[in-house]
Amino acid sequence: MKNFQTKMFNRKASNPKNKPDQIIEAIALKPGQSIAEIGVGGGYFSLRFAEMVGKKGNIYAVDTNRGFLEFVKNSAKEKGLDNVITTFAKEDKLVLPEKSLDFIFMRNVTHHIPNRVKYFRNLKDFLKPDGKIIIIEYKKGKFFTFRGIFGHYVLKEIIIREMEEAGYLLEREFNFLQEQHFTIYY
Ligand SMILES: C[S@@+](CC[C@H](N)C(=O)[O-])C[C@H]1O[C@@H](n2cnc3c(N)ncnc32)[C@H](O)[C@@H]1O
Repeated sequence: MKNFQTKMFNRKASNPKNKPDQIIEAIALKPGQSIAEIGVGGGYFSLRFAEMVGKKGNIYAVDTNRGFLEFVKNSAKEKGLDNVITTFAKEDKLVLPEKSLDFIFMRNVTHHIPNRVKYFRNLKDFLKPDGKIIIIEYKKGKFFTFRGIFGHYVLKEIIIREMEEAGYLLEREFNFLQEQHFTIYY
């Protein structure tokens, strides 16, 4: 069951219609950088990040589901990527090194997080002074779609407002995704 879900996350993440290459290009990670993916799922993006940052960089793959983390750990091992560190999160309790991250990446996960302003504010503890937060989240779907019915989306205006309340400013936004909005904060 866990493998089924992780594979489904990865199939969706890697589907060209969801423009994974353009997302990777927009983030433009450099060798040696550190990035945490909160809500890593099947790890599609984290494993691609791991290749980009190389041996001197670090990827922290964070999830509340231990089965998903195990899948990501095994996938990294199979690909010979030893810079992927999986870390279990209990709701809003994150175990990450302080002031160490160039980026925090959250794709399709903010709709799962209650009390987001407090959550976002706490993320500051883990970012370097010039660190950034990248958020990709579903736009509102038509009522009869899965995300419309189950509320698996957060409007971009709400994310921007909550991030501002948490002490961040919008740096950039990209408009090439059909189903999601994509914003970067500092
Ligand atoms: C829709 S999946 C997205 C997976 C991945 N980011 C991607 O784009 O393919 C959402 C993931 O967030 C995780 N998640 C849910 N609540 C979380 C929380 N509070 N902290 C960390 N991860 C969480 C889920 O277990 C799941 O793996």
